[in-house]
Amino acid sequence: MRYASITERLAGLGSGKWAIHIEARKKAAEGIPVIQLTIGEPDLPPDPTLLAECTRALHAGRTRYSNGRGEASVVSALVEKYRKRRDNITERNVLCFPGTQSALFVVLMGLLDAGDEVLVGDPYYATYEGLIASSGARLSPVKLKMENGFHLNARDLEAAITSRSRVLLMNTPHNPTGAVLTSDEISAIGEVCRRHDLWIVCDEVYEELAFGQNLSKTFASPFDNPALAERTVVVSSISKSHAAPGFRSGWAVGPSDFCDRLLPVSETMLFGMQPFIADMTAMALTQPIETSGIMRTNYERRARLIATRLKSISTLKPIMPEGGMFIVVDVGATGLTGYEFAARLLEEQHVAVMPGSSFGEAARDLIRVSLTVSDDMLAEAADRMIQIANMLAAEAA
Ligand SMILES: Cc1ncc(COP(=O)(O)O)c(C=O)c1O
Repeated sequence: MRYASITERLAGLGSGKWAIHIEARKKAAEGIPVIQLTIGEPDLPPDPTLLAECTRALHAGRTRYSNGRGEASVVSALVEKYRKRRDNITERNVLCFPGTQSALFVVLMGLLDAGDEVLVGDPYYATYEGLIASSGARLSPVKLKMENGFHLNARDLEAAITSRSRVLLMNTPHNPTGAVLTSDEISAIGEVCRRHDLWIVCDEVYEELAFGQNLSKTFASPFDNPALAERTVVVSSISKSHAAPGFRSGWAVGPSDFCDRLLPVSETMLFGMQPFIADMTAMALTQPIETSGIMRTNYERRARLIATRLKSISTLKPIMPEGGMFIVVDVGATGLTGYEFAARLLEEQHVAVMPGSSFGEAARDLIRVSLTVSDDMLAEAADRMIQIANMLAAEAA
């Protein structure tokens, strides 16, 4: 039978990136006690008040069809949230989706044609490649330099722009590196995008996990700059902020003309979202809920724990994140790539981490360690990494 070319463009982008994770799950199912530090799944449950609201809404009959933009309750909660950041936001600027992933898919479908180019800092979140390839566009990598803390640099961005560039897909706080861009960096990046008439799609799924006490000081976004309003689309969700990835509840906020044009694309594919999840999301966005504050403190402390522990070994170089739920470690000095190191760590020490190669060419020598297990377990995982590094040094001697 004949298939559409999208199936070829996406073939191989799925399972290859997750091979270590899949192998770890297999070992765990066989009863081998693997320390699993692969995916970014929050280790807290959602707040009980949110579960209660979801259950209440289910029993109250909030199980009927919705509409393409989103239920009134959640749309107005989003207007309230984003109006604090830019004052002229209305419901015409908001679209709801089942998670950031589907928001990104529809947003990019609305902005890209085959042959277009999307600028993306490399390393990048593992699904971006497939998202971009879906439309027939090409991912154009802009190297994020380790010596620059993996921060996207405006000059490097400008050097990668061609006549086919249409979109900058950026992510702050950044997965996998944990880099959090400053407002000065974002101004410079925004200026480049204005000069070259690029859309900016900003994935802010880790917004509430920027480390530090005061989010308004640590987190910055192109969305907050009125001069970039006509070209900026933010996507996010409650997956990380409220430890609720299984609810699949996210959104896009952008220019009203953009949202009007995108609405039929979204409706064609999704036909609205679930009202009982919308009610729970509205509560998550409007009530003070502690989950993200607890995670922020835990993940920062655990990142420091790994960074301190690995100081004792010169061939493993942890790079302290500024936000998010991961820490990356440069293993290049062991003589192995990130993939080889991760495979050996799983096989010999039963610790599963993501190989950097799942996040682009620039991350080849990295591993990404998820901070979503207890401090004790992370300390144990760090010690097992050191054992592998010591064994490699002994083999090389
Ligand atoms: C950078 C980034 N964007 C998007 C997602 C997907 O988020 P959601 O659960 O809202 O679809 C993730 C999940 O790990 C992520 O790390």
